[in-house]
Amino acid sequence: MSEKRIIVTGASSGIGEAVARHAVARGWQVLAVARRAERLEALAADIGCEVLAADLTDEGDIARLAEAAAAFRPTSLVQVAGGAKGAAHLAETTIEDWRWMFESNVIAAKRVIDAVLPLLRASTRPSEGAPGGYAEIMVVTSIAATVAYAGGSGYNAAKSAEKQLVDVLRLELHGEPIRVMEVAPGMVWTEEFSLVRFEGDRAKADAVYKDVQDPLSADDVAQVMTDILALPGHVSIDETIIKPVAQTHPWMVHRGPLVAKG
Ligand SMILES: NC(=O)c1ccc[n+]([C@@H]2O[C@H](COP(=O)([O-])OP(=O)(O)OC[C@H]3O[C@@H](n4cnc5c(N)ncnc54)[C@H](OP(=O)(O)O)[C@@H]3O)[C@@H](O)[C@H]2O)c1
Repeated sequence: MSEKRIIVTGASSGIGEAVARHAVARGWQVLAVARRAERLEALAADIGCEVLAADLTDEGDIARLAEAAAAFRPTSLVQVAGGAKGAAHLAETTIEDWRWMFESNVIAAKRVIDAVLPLLRASTRPSEGAPGGYAEIMVVTSIAATVAYAGGSGYNAAKSAEKQLVDVLRLELHGEPIRVMEVAPGMVWTEEFSLVRFEGDRAKADAVYKDVQDPLSADDVAQVMTDILALPGHVSIDETIIKPVAQTHPWMVHRGPLVAKG
């Protein structure tokens, strides 16, 4: 691939924003997508990327994304947008929160892939001045996609469905020059993820990371993601699990300093 042109969704904060920053720093072109236009504009002014304010759960906005994407001519899609709502036990969770999580993690991914896949296919074909080559789709799921935890029901279910979508897509693109890769982070201390999950309750959000030595940062995850994207196009790192050392298992998080035994 001579020049990478990446659509990054969820680029107005956290992991997506960090991916956009790392990608531009590597000399790649970025179309940054999320709902909040003002945050995208600030990012564009800072790093020099293209932006599109769009709600990935809205059909009309997806049509606008397809249009902007066609003009952008992507070689790569990095689907980061998504999140969690609530941490109650299943019986106390609301259908509203479940619907939000399925809409923004699973159905949004399906909609974005529908809009962008034909363009990724086109980018692999040689055309005037461009040699074609490999394209790529990278989707951020979560370790919650494979390991259940009490209080995770709707998020576990949605991320697990998103993971299945990625696995199916990889099979269905068999024989095409498109790598399909999943990145499953553990605990990442981003500005907004837990705040969104706990409906703006700052104390609850901060408690998630309390006394954890070095939770992952958005920057750590973006570094790994862009390192993978920088590999030659035929190298498909199908699945990547990334956790902080303090999180030995999804629900085994060490609080306090990490100290060697013996
Ligand atoms: N933080 C963690 O511990 C962690 C761990 C594992 C996996 N993840 C996953 O990593 C991804 C990013 O998480 P994060 O920590 O960076 O959280 P974040 O800061 O809350 O980022 C979520 C991003 O998604 C965008 N978004 C949400 N709904 C959208 C919609 N309907 N249409 C368009 N954009 C939408 C948000 O932007 P707007 O609000 O501007 O639309 C924001 O840019 C999510 O898929 C999350 O599930 C996070």
